Amino acid sequence: MRVTICIGSACHLKGSREVVAQLQSMVKERHLEEQVDLNGSFCSGNCVSGVCVTVDGQLYSLKPEDTREFFDREIIGRL
Ligand code: FES
Repeated sequence: MRVTICIGSACHLKGSREVVAQLQSMVKERHLEEQVDLNGSFCSGNCVSGVCVTVDGQLYSLKPEDTREFFDREIIGRL
């Protein structure tokens, strides 16, 4: 599964660094390094309400405080 987190300036201001750090530690915690491929990307023009994250090409807009729920639902839920 390919998960891409935007590190463009708008997303950076909304906390993309924190989202990346949280996702990295959740992946590590559950030993999913082989299954979940975390990547960074530049602005894709989707800087709307939150940090732009895609899971296998599907777009989500994430707030740092929603990262755990997102991880459980969209990442664990799809494995
Ligand atoms: S800065 Fe992230 S989508 Fe634009």
